[in-house]
Amino acid sequence: MTQKLAIDGGPRAVPENAIKPWPPIDDTDREALLRVFDNQILCGAGGPETVALQKEWAEYIGRKHCLATNSGTAALHMSLAAAGIGPGDEVIVPAYTFLASASCVLHANAIPVFVDIDERTYTIDPRLIEEKITERTKAIIPVHLHGLPADMDEIMAIARKHNLIVIEDACQAHGATYKGKKVGSIGDFAAFSLNSSKNLCGAEGGFFMTDNDYWAMRGDMLRMFGDEIDDETKLRVYNASILGFMYRMQEFTAAFTRAQLKRLDANNAIRQRNCEYLTEILKEYEWVTTPYVPPDRTHVYWMYVVRFDPKKAGVNLSPREFRIALEKALHMEGVGVGQWQIMPVPAQDLFQTKMGYGSRGCPWTCHFYSKEITYRGEDYPVASRLCEDYTVIVGTNPPNGTELLDMYAEAFRKVFKNLDVVVKHKDDPIVAHYRGSIFMAA
Ligand SMILES: Cc1ncc(COP(=O)(O)O)c(C=O)c1O
Repeated sequence: MTQKLAIDGGPRAVPENAIKPWPPIDDTDREALLRVFDNQILCGAGGPETVALQKEWAEYIGRKHCLATNSGTAALHMSLAAAGIGPGDEVIVPAYTFLASASCVLHANAIPVFVDIDERTYTIDPRLIEEKITERTKAIIPVHLHGLPADMDEIMAIARKHNLIVIEDACQAHGATYKGKKVGSIGDFAAFSLNSSKNLCGAEGGFFMTDNDYWAMRGDMLRMFGDEIDDETKLRVYNASILGFMYRMQEFTAAFTRAQLKRLDANNAIRQRNCEYLTEILKEYEWVTTPYVPPDRTHVYWMYVVRFDPKKAGVNLSPREFRIALEKALHMEGVGVGQWQIMPVPAQDLFQTKMGYGSRGCPWTCHFYSKEITYRGEDYPVASRLCEDYTVIVGTNPPNGTELLDMYAEAFRKVFKNLDVVVKHKDDPIVAHYRGSIFMAA
């Protein structure tokens, strides 16, 4: 049956409100929050929910130390600061990631040096790392992007050879495994985010992790103003001996995260089943690239990313024009689609203007860093190409199941088999926008 496309005035394939938002909330979440009211302890690094959560997460990942923080960005910054990375140092970061993977380096007064990503996994390309290492390089921040682990064996080998610290940015990959090991347990440090879109949701929050006792002790002080903490009582002594921050988690977040953590594995399994189902549906269209998962790791699909090839589809549009035209048509059918990052991180204005701190452009102009560094998006061709032709398909999170994806299949069939109609409507004033876990019209 051929039906008129929704963008052409036909009925939508997916009814309104069919996509259920993330995360599913149940009575165990409500009870967790009430428990905090009943305890009457609302904050503090020694709060009972915070302490219990740290222990549970350290056990889940298989790491000696876990400190709960108020964001993933805070956990990344604490890792750099705990390792003593600062002015004059360089840190290697993938060119395609969320800004915080790189801005944490600037917050440490160090300089991010970008490396392009791999064509298939979209994680940092280890073959390109060594050429970026200088005598100033102190660390590498691999990012387990979209929920897929980076090439950790290759990265760890390069880091050990050059005596570099590895900070895993695991903000998007709770529960993903690399050669049987959970991500976050492999590098010298790891950072996780608990913001509301993440596979493990605490509304906002994060985890700083390490196995090293000294770095953990430094992290503990950095998390709370740089205050020393009494060995016996575990209380602050109100004497800051280093420069720290206010990066503590609060008790409501900890209690909520503990309730969500009990369902993390089950929720990840639903994401995996949904995404594998979607890949089966999309296989039929050879001009659509679905996520690649190397056999030695598991993907937890924080995001399901596809790419469209106009040449293979026989459409005379640029990859960017084709992707936008398809987003519009799919959006009108009721499929959640749209872009997340729109350019490689080094192409963002912050790196073009290099206006860091104050009005003098620190840390780039800091006298400890005498080098001139220029950031150009086009120096990262793989990341740049990805930004032209990728889109995220939203709705693969629980509580959505295959019934939603069956409706998506119908939408794909309509849209992908009528590319001439898609092209006809390519300039329609429709915008598909990212809004947390759901994409909506502007
Ligand atoms: C890869 C990556 N790194 C770091 C962060 C920062 O985490 P948060 O938002 O909790 O500060 C995020 C969050 O979106 C992320 O996706």
